[in-house]
Amino acid sequence: MTDIEQVNTAFRASQSLIAAIDPRISGAIEQELSDQRGSLKLIASENYASLTTLLTMGNWLSDKYAEGTSGHRFYAGCLNIDAVEDVAAEHARELFGADHAYVQPHSGIDANLVAFWAILAHRIESPELARLDAKTVNDLSEADWAALRAKLGNQRVMGMALDAGGHLTHGFRHNISGKMFEQRSYGTNPQTGLIDYDALAASVKEFKPLILVAGYSAYPRRINFAKMREIADSVGATLMADMAHFAGLVAGKVFTGDENPVPFAHITTTTTHKSLRGPRGGLVLAKAEYKEAVDRGCPMVLGGPLGHVMAAKAIALAEARTPAFQTYAQAIADNAKALAEGLMKRGVKLVTDGTDNHLCLLDVAASFGLSGRQAESALLDAGIVTNRNSVPADLNGAWYTSGVRIGTPALTTRGLDQADFDQVADLIVTTLKATHPTTTSAGSPSLAKYTLDDGVAPRVQTACDELLASHPLYPGLSL
Ligand SMILES: Cc1ncc(COP(=O)(O)O)c(C=O)c1O
Repeated sequence: MTDIEQVNTAFRASQSLIAAIDPRISGAIEQELSDQRGSLKLIASENYASLTTLLTMGNWLSDKYAEGTSGHRFYAGCLNIDAVEDVAAEHARELFGADHAYVQPHSGIDANLVAFWAILAHRIESPELARLDAKTVNDLSEADWAALRAKLGNQRVMGMALDAGGHLTHGFRHNISGKMFEQRSYGTNPQTGLIDYDALAASVKEFKPLILVAGYSAYPRRINFAKMREIADSVGATLMADMAHFAGLVAGKVFTGDENPVPFAHITTTTTHKSLRGPRGGLVLAKAEYKEAVDRGCPMVLGGPLGHVMAAKAIALAEARTPAFQTYAQAIADNAKALAEGLMKRGVKLVTDGTDNHLCLLDVAASFGLSGRQAESALLDAGIVTNRNSVPADLNGAWYTSGVRIGTPALTTRGLDQADFDQVADLIVTTLKATHPTTTSAGSPSLAKYTLDDGVAPRVQTACDELLASHPLYPGLSL
């Protein structure tokens, strides 16, 4: 049997077992595969994990409680989970050159929570316990405990503004991070759209945050982490890098030197399912001084670890250590450049006028007179999956927006090359040029409604189908 025959046997067997209990679930699983195969997925935060990574998640490691860390569990019988967690952490350390790796977080938001509380524990709680000559928080009097809680709740964080490409978990009010910290955000230069390190340094000196967060979900450029560390050091702040979006480019050695956060940040967090192409989950990398605090993620903010997902993280991280992954990561960046150039030569305004990572941010208001919501919906009508996103100083607000974010990690996994991405740019522009805003029922300009010229959506959909057919997703998998 070839590998793909084994994989087919495994997936078919699991589908028939699931169907015997509730065919609606096996049906949804199969339909999702079909939908993913049939759409041009340009969502910058999505990818396609390997079939081996996916298969690694379907097993009984899920049944075991293993709160604690390897060798220090609150439950008996955790030797196999210890083995899995050790291997995953070893791959993460080796891949990223980190002192320490904590592979338990269930998602990116959890990884950031672990990081925030590790920093608070290391910087605020531990010195306070030492000052009061207490071993743990349980040794404190009610009055000392109340004072410590007030101190923990009175710290400052600084993160990138949402409309500049930052993420909600970096201290914004809709997320728990914004309720935990006093927050100030830093934006980008209004002319260039780039991070203005001098303005950031001045703002940091004024605000004096405990934590400076560097990282983004919609900034189309690389960050200079050496500068970020210098700025954090100027006020004694802890530098926390969130590389959720671009971890694959770090793993694949596309971002090296000052563009690699791991040597510079005290703590680096990431998701494992975006450009890193692993299972859905999170990961925290830390300098040795933060190891102990990070390892208290469970029970600090996490419950029992997901043993089956840690196993899949180990497989994906092992895959990311291969030369083939480096070729893949370079192709992500090369393809993003081709996509950006293809869009700009067809007249599209991109935030920062280009990209040097894995994503582009189209200003669809400036380019086509559309809201992000209208552009996102029209593209979906034509079989192109994107997501709307704010642009700096967005006049349409965070719901309708003026931008559309697109990225190359997923379609690069399918094998599309630079010429293909030029064609993708053409399909996007063809669709958006044929999209026209309409009015609300009350007659005022609508930010949601639009018309698409006759015949454009089916024509673009046919071109997408042809492109996708020549780059099959999971070739040989016959479900
Ligand atoms: C920069 C960044 N951090 C954290 C997260 C949160 O990840 P998750 O959805 O896995 O919680 C995201 C997700 O989009 C992200 O872009």
